[in-house]
Amino acid sequence: MDEMSLRRDMVATCRQMNDLGINQGTSGNVSVRCGDGLLITPTSLPYDEMQPDDLVWMDFAGNFKGLRPSSEWRFHRDILFARKDVDAVLHCHSTYAATLACHHKDIPSFHYMVAMAGGTTIRCAPYATFGTQELSDVALTALKDRSACLLGHHGQIALGTTMKSALKLAVEVETLAKMYVEVLSLGEPEILSDEEMDNVFQQIRNVGYGLTPSAESAA
Ligand code: 13P
Repeated sequence: MDEMSLRRDMVATCRQMNDLGINQGTSGNVSVRCGDGLLITPTSLPYDEMQPDDLVWMDFAGNFKGLRPSSEWRFHRDILFARKDVDAVLHCHSTYAATLACHHKDIPSFHYMVAMAGGTTIRCAPYATFGTQELSDVALTALKDRSACLLGHHGQIALGTTMKSALKLAVEVETLAKMYVEVLSLGEPEILSDEEMDNVFQQIRNVGYGLTPSAESAA
């Protein structure tokens, strides 16, 4: 995708975050790999006012052109630098993900769809002040072998190869978080065993689950 298409795609994704109810106000931010660096949302600009030209281009040393980048540029930069399997990073303060994160709760495999984030848990990173290198470091650790994590007393991060896939995963994480909060209201649920989760991962591979229908043939 050329840079202008990426910029338009990012603005559309930001607005969708609000429309889908996973973000509010000026919390949340997104980035996408672009050339030798990344495009990232500017800090503190409401999404309904944001235009494609407002997005900030940044290199991996943190030099940027244009408006001031999101206060969370460190973890966006560090994730895109460290994770060659990822091209898009989305952060939001979705209500249920943040609710669990305020209790420092990982999301265990209480439901098989936890596998969509790449493992048997969606980890919660310890609390660190927003915008700091410390937050970036704990986020990267929580994201090891995963495509999503919770951030203690803060929100969630979802990764993708495109903005669209990162958004889809963020919605999935929020749905799982909501389900888990509801499930906990009835008591501690049984957690699917690692063996059962291995079957889920196998089945995801077998049927190409979560991929677009044309990307894989059906099993
Ligand atoms: P920005 O407006 O700087 O992107 O910050 C919002 C936020 O979510 C901080 O964690």
